[in-house]
Amino acid sequence: MSFVLKEISGYIAVLTINRPDVLNAMNDKVVADLESAVQTCIDDKNVGVIILTGSGDKAFVAGADIKKMQGMGQEGALTFGQAGQDMTLTIENSPKPVIAAVNGFALGGGCEISMACHLRVASETATFGQPEVLLGILPGWGGTQRLPRLVGTGMANEIITTGRMVKATEAKNIGLVNHVVPAGELMEKCISIAKQILKNGPEAIAQSLDCIRKGIGTSIIDGMAIEVKNFSELFGTEEAKEGLTAFVEKRKPSFRD
Ligand code: COA
Repeated sequence: MSFVLKEISGYIAVLTINRPDVLNAMNDKVVADLESAVQTCIDDKNVGVIILTGSGDKAFVAGADIKKMQGMGQEGALTFGQAGQDMTLTIENSPKPVIAAVNGFALGGGCEISMACHLRVASETATFGQPEVLLGILPGWGGTQRLPRLVGTGMANEIITTGRMVKATEAKNIGLVNHVVPAGELMEKCISIAKQILKNGPEAIAQSLDCIRKGIGTSIIDGMAIEVKNFSELFGTEEAKEGLTAFVEKRKPSFRD
């Protein structure tokens, strides 16, 4: 049985990491299940946006499974770290936007998974953090790379070296999350963002994400070269013809049906 539940409705897939007895902590089976669930949604033409959340009202994901890591040697850590990184890359490279609905603790690997998503919406009760150094280890699923890109080097240095908790309001203030909403409105807010995205051309969305992802870390000149390539390629698609023609004909474009 998978540790990740999947529900699809109106082109929106909701994936729920479901291991509530340990606050959705991630062992290798949960990592594999999550990667596979995301990949299934990427391959499914009935999915346009993915919302990722955690089971229960306490945690998104409280981190990698500490009990599993306790007995791990260097080789095991390399395999576990690589598997976790690959899973975050599958999320980050998804051509369909992945929204993290952060419903509680997003610590360690949980914070890292949320940062691999294209955007984050947090409930007021959410808490972020990279507390690995408290355990004598470090964030190994992309945390040292994605956190500074989101919040800047100085703040990332502080969060990672102190291992302190970051409450939802602070997370919003430093740019770690896009929105903070009351817990009861979290899913509604994510679905409303997803519906707005779904009105737009799927290929245009995918190519836009591709430009942003590949452009980060390159020079502006290299980034713009990627942008103009994707821009021109879209003009060969039915989708662009439909979008541009619909505007001229003063009607709504039909991208998905
Ligand atoms: N790995 C394995 N088990 C975990 C876990 C993790 N990352 N996080 C929580 N759990 C388990 C606890 O061991 C406990 O299990 P038990 O009932 O068998 O003892 C259960 O989840 C509930 O957690 P508990 O600590 O009792 O809840 P709490 O409300 O008192 O505290 C946290 C919540 C999130 C502050 C606390 O669980 C915690 O610090 N977790 C570890 C966070 C962390 O360091 N993550 C990074 C790992 S690299």
